[in-house]
Amino acid sequence: MDRRTITVTVNGAIHTREVEVRRTLADFLREDLGLTGTHLGCEHGVCGACTVLLDGRAVRSCLLFAVQADGAEVATVESLGTPEHLHPLQEAFRDHHGLQCGFCTPGILMSMVAFLRETPAPGDAEIREVLAGNLCRCTGYQGIVDAVRDAAARLRSGA
Ligand code: FES
Ligand code: FES
Repeated sequence: MDRRTITVTVNGAIHTREVEVRRTLADFLREDLGLTGTHLGCEHGVCGACTVLLDGRAVRSCLLFAVQADGAEVATVESLGTPEHLHPLQEAFRDHHGLQCGFCTPGILMSMVAFLRETPAPGDAEIREVLAGNLCRCTGYQGIVDAVRDAAARLRSGA
């Protein structure tokens, strides 16, 4: 079995691990590093539940191999906030009932973190367009749109 040693900075901590070259980044994060906030739904790039940031860009961790993250910086949902100090997006999701069952929420949050960095004042149509990349079985996207709009305002005001 082909294995390689990789070094990845995840949420600010440097990890060096030997991995099989076929190991996905999602499995590396969840199983090797124990960061189970990154969820796996479809495992073939459709649902967006596994979205993390790779060098600041939102990517689907089920479609990448861990070896492709060698030397890179990864941010998972665990990097956003703590129960005592939620990220403005997490606060807004809580306040607008955007969490629902929470399964797809980590991927949505990470997609929206990247989106709001590039688009600090999005309109609802823009939010919905980006949100279309994240499938949610709870439906109820309106609360999520409200949360993202509110989070954008909180981030603009430096909340
Ligand atoms: S689990 Fe990666 S896109 Fe669905
Ligand atoms: S919040 Fe339940 S599947 Fe999206």
